[in-house]
Amino acid sequence: MFVPRQRAPEGLKMNKYTFEDLVGDEKVFFAEDFNKKPMLRKESMPGDVRDILSIRKLDELLHLEVVRPPYIKVNHNGSGVPEKGYTRSVVVQGVNITDTVVPEKIYELFRAGATVTWCSLNQIVPELRDFTRVISDKMAVRTDVVGFMTPTGKRGYLPHHDPVDLFIVQLEGTKRWKLWNPPAERLGDNASYTDEQLGDPVIEVLLEPGDVLYLPYNTPHAAAAEDQVSLHLSIMMRPRMWKDLLRETFEQVADAPEFNEYPHIGTLRNSTVESLFRQKVTSLAARMDALDAGSELDRLAELGRHMPGSSRGSTFQTIAETDGLTPDALLRRTGASVEFGANDGGRTEMTVNGHRIAVPAQVAERLASLDEGEPIPAGEVFPGVPAERSTKAAQGLTRLGVLEMAGAR
Ligand SMILES: [Fe+2]
Repeated sequence: MFVPRQRAPEGLKMNKYTFEDLVGDEKVFFAEDFNKKPMLRKESMPGDVRDILSIRKLDELLHLEVVRPPYIKVNHNGSGVPEKGYTRSVVVQGVNITDTVVPEKIYELFRAGATVTWCSLNQIVPELRDFTRVISDKMAVRTDVVGFMTPTGKRGYLPHHDPVDLFIVQLEGTKRWKLWNPPAERLGDNASYTDEQLGDPVIEVLLEPGDVLYLPYNTPHAAAAEDQVSLHLSIMMRPRMWKDLLRETFEQVADAPEFNEYPHIGTLRNSTVESLFRQKVTSLAARMDALDAGSELDRLAELGRHMPGSSRGSTFQTIAETDGLTPDALLRRTGASVEFGANDGGRTEMTVNGHRIAVPAQVAERLASLDEGEPIPAGEVFPGVPAERSTKAAQGLTRLGVLEMAGAR
């Protein structure tokens, strides 16, 4: 599968937070804490953490009628409140939306002691998406952000462990956390505990705004709000076990044409099929054995960085900029594959991403001479003609994806 390299497109601001903001020294984190034991960092996040997400922002989100289950859930006394208890049908543009959230109902439940959970907020809040992407890039795993808002003095959930690695970031109010070391046998499952099963916690802390906890998957934890409303983020990273990675690799290797035949393995199966199967297994094993471990791990890491919930793009902006291109605007060759045909009466046929076009031979020669990433003013793409005409040609090539705005790297 082709996985596009991520780059920061023009017009998208830089990420505000770094991985180090969460973990401190990365080398120390990966050597001592990652996948081993829970970690606490007081005052880890710089600046005002309400910039990441605030209670005020959640009031706004609650009133956006598009934010509805499963993005918002309510938990009361340890169990989920049925969605019917806080949603209603609303007609939008003639379409019946059956689960639109009723803010007053949510507020009522919250006042009664319920926890409001905001799931996959990285799919809704651009700032959280940026933050999530920083973590996904580093860990090469799918990352989702869940916001937990608990009222004063209420315990959110009973002691339990989750199948995901977690960063907990306290944003407003305080919350008392107890963490225990993960069990010796880690199954990557969910489980609940009684207080007696757990013994003394290894970390017990009152988490304040800016503090960060790291919980490897299966770390038992319990949390309770203190004397203020508490808002924290759970940044969930789905571990990719060897079995997950090997499956991905297998999928790729098994995609070879030699595995496309359709053997009959039913009632009239004969021994030829069995020996053929043996041959295929041997061939598959040889293909697996021949893999370059480094490049395959790079491919797997890239796949992990492009899971749902972290994409970004600025195509609208790029199209708008292309329409307003000036002769001195700097463009550059993209990585798109281009095949040049023969010069036929002053025009050269080009195949770009499967599309065939014919361009003036001078344009084709100019393009062929450009290295990937090498900048060129739009007015010079078509040598020997007025700059305006060259710019028109450059616009066409930009729309085709042969050239792109040079500010975008
Ligand atoms: Fe949890």
